[in-house]
Amino acid sequence: MSTKTVHKGLAGVVVDTTGISMVNPETNSLTYRGYPVQDLAAHCRFEEVAHLLWHGELPTPAQLAEQNAVERAHRELPADLVSTLLHLPATAHPMDTLRTAVSILGANDPHEDENSPEANHAKALRLFGALPSIVALTQRRRRGLLPLPPRPDLGFAENFLAMTFGAVPEPEVVRAFEISLVLYAEHSFNASTFTSRVVTSTLSDLYSAITAAIGALKGPLHGGANEAVMAAFEEIGTADRAQEWVARALAAKRTIMGFGHRVYKNGDSRVPTMRAALRTVAELRDGQRLLDLYESLAGAVFAAKGLHPNLDYPAGPAYHLMGFDTPVFTPIFVAARITGWTAHITEQLAANSLIRPSSLYTGSAQREFIA
Ligand code: CMC
Repeated sequence: MSTKTVHKGLAGVVVDTTGISMVNPETNSLTYRGYPVQDLAAHCRFEEVAHLLWHGELPTPAQLAEQNAVERAHRELPADLVSTLLHLPATAHPMDTLRTAVSILGANDPHEDENSPEANHAKALRLFGALPSIVALTQRRRRGLLPLPPRPDLGFAENFLAMTFGAVPEPEVVRAFEISLVLYAEHSFNASTFTSRVVTSTLSDLYSAITAAIGALKGPLHGGANEAVMAAFEEIGTADRAQEWVARALAAKRTIMGFGHRVYKNGDSRVPTMRAALRTVAELRDGQRLLDLYESLAGAVFAAKGLHPNLDYPAGPAYHLMGFDTPVFTPIFVAARITGWTAHITEQLAANSLIRPSSLYTGSAQREFIA
């Protein structure tokens, strides 16, 4: 009889240390490098938060200007990448397009296999600059529109939205979008970040780690939940139908997307900030029906199961009201989380140990082989 204990899903298992972010379910808080995420969302540009995650400190004006110059130079996608992406089926899921694009960028990078902190930071900035352009191209292609050139005169969030929709929207919408990017940037050892650290621990390259992380994020139990939330909203339709829908969904043992969390059991600390951003966008974009549905579904899920919403719950309808198609929601999450993933890759390499857990074997006992 084995004495091994199985930690299914690695729940509660502490596998390493990190100095990047802390999720504290007791105080219901999330900090990036010590700063509460709500304060960063309220006061910082996304580019400043990226610097904080990568370097441990908020940037000086000179450091920010230097980082911005490199990021903006990478917004222009290589022509061969654009041409390959335009050959993918227009029906491909945007997460598949993004995963493929990162793989192509890796194959085209002569420094792909260099794993020094400097080389990997250069790759992180390359992806940081390029990912919004890829997401924008994908969103436009879904509507039969040609890609637009980047706007080097604009900040990260404004350029992302201008490349997608052809113009910078209302400042309140830009701000709400930027808040979502800050909230999505980092979240400790979640499934996709852990995936990127597993790949990195074999001394593989950063692009491979990010490609794998995108695959992990796509699933509806993780980042794909923001898309699944919108699908549920569309299925329910109006606020008055939420309670009955929840009762039927739970009776059918369905998972209600956008609710529950592996670490937070008393509510996700990011939700109030994103919910306020959703309200702002809803007021500007005729979103009262969606807001009513939001509140009614949240109330019904809590009453029936005691589950709180997670960040994907307000983010999904906010992106919808901003004008994004549902399958583009999780790629936006990627464009934000690239900061956290790449910070973790650097941290993993700084004190690397191959991540290779054990298992408890439950198959056939050893038996005689008869040729
Ligand atoms: N809908 C219905 N039941 C749920 C849900 C849900 N969303 N979440 C948890 N439960 C149930 C679960 O089935 C279990 O019930 P029982 O005890 O009767 O078997 C109970 O609640 C406890 O769940 P748990 O096992 O402690 O949850 P977990 O830590 O294994 O799972 C989770 C966490 C996020 C995978 C799960 O809550 C879930 O599937 N949520 C929906 C998907 C989702 O919104 N994911 C986004 C996560 S956060 C942001 C991000 O990464 O993008």
